Amino acid sequence: MNKIAEKYADEIQKIIAKYPPEEKRSAVMSLLYIAQREDGHVSKQDISEIAEILEMTSTEVATLIGFYTLYYDKPGAKYRIQICNDLPCALRGADEFITKLCEKLGIQIGETTEDGLVSVEAVMCLAACDKAPMFQVQTGDGLEYHELQSVESTMELIEKWKAARDSQVS
Ligand code: FES
Repeated sequence: MNKIAEKYADEIQKIIAKYPPEEKRSAVMSLLYIAQREDGHVSKQDISEIAEILEMTSTEVATLIGFYTLYYDKPGAKYRIQICNDLPCALRGADEFITKLCEKLGIQIGETTEDGLVSVEAVMCLAACDKAPMFQVQTGDGLEYHELQSVESTMELIEKWKAARDSQVS
């Protein structure tokens, strides 16, 4: 069954209408965003739907997911915390921040917490070099940046996400 093509038909049509018919493949990033917004990753089904809608090959669509670090082709944590530990941030304690945060969450870098809520990744420069420790995270509402973080402030944020998830479940 078509997932995004049917569910978001109107939204997709509005996006495609912004481009000349012969350039509709330019809408690919927006359609990938819609697919990932749905459940946190872009599935094989999503890839083939997007390819069909935009008259591209599945390989062309999949290549973009591989290229951009904010797209995922596998299910993962609801909140993927991407912490910069590039040199300037490392000099401001990013590595220690990552280690202590992972310890607190009971995971290693790259892993997801048992409840599936949070994962922690180390990434390259996110253009906030004087605000380390800092990270970016995709929420259902877009990409958020959290700067000048401590383990405590990040754990508080995670508690808020947990409460929001629990209130949706109950
Ligand atoms: S080095 Fe970390 S944000 Fe630039």
